[in-house]
Amino acid sequence: MAKKINLLISAGPTREWIDPVRYISNPSSGKMGYALAKEAQKRNYSVTLVTGPVHLSEPEGICIRKVETAEQMRKEMLENFESSDVTIMCAAVCDHRPEVQWSQKQKKEEFPSQIKLVPTIDILTELGNRKKASQILIGFAAETENFEQNAKIKLKQKNLDWIALNDVSRKQIGFNSEYNEITMFSSNQKKVKFEFSSKEILATQMLELITK
Ligand code: PMT
Repeated sequence: MAKKINLLISAGPTREWIDPVRYISNPSSGKMGYALAKEAQKRNYSVTLVTGPVHLSEPEGICIRKVETAEQMRKEMLENFESSDVTIMCAAVCDHRPEVQWSQKQKKEEFPSQIKLVPTIDILTELGNRKKASQILIGFAAETENFEQNAKIKLKQKNLDWIALNDVSRKQIGFNSEYNEITMFSSNQKKVKFEFSSKEILATQMLELITK
């Protein structure tokens, strides 16, 4: 029997806590990542989904790892990466977290007017550094300007095989929409544009391209 393809995928936002009742995050709904995970399962892949907090039903038959922070997502991704054939980082990981995290709720009157932020570790860069020749690594680029240029920089810097560029300045697509529009760039200079469609259709098109 042919060996199943192992697909590791991240989806949704991360939350970087300030105190027990406040956090920094972003509007990712998880829809794009979950659509990819479900499409991979349809294709009989063995799927591990590392997910930030979302309001989506859990797809059956998929191994789900729930996380909140960038650091928790990093640990899960690193733990599952070695056995993965195809890895997709679709999650909107917060680039920064508060340097100090209070264990008690800060009183309104005492709340600081400025909060120092420190960078989170870039998970995709770490995966890119560990990648073996047999593994395929795909990232997303969420851009609002200089689209192609910024996506290509991330493709190279993070040692990816493909990057999926989406314009997150448009309300109809990207964050928290049923739809998206994606241009894929490969490390060997391929460029493939997928027109405005549901995230489910785009997931089918993306997986078809990646596994060609
Ligand atoms: O969840 P939805 O509402 O369906 O929206 C989908 C989406 C817009 C979130 C998705 O299509 C998307 O663009 N995901 C990537 C968002 C993002 O963080 O992009 P970026 O250009 O800031 O980061 C580039 C890549 O680095 C991403 O693959 C990201 O997962 C990764 N990254 C970023 C920061 C970090 N600390 N570690 C990372 O691995």
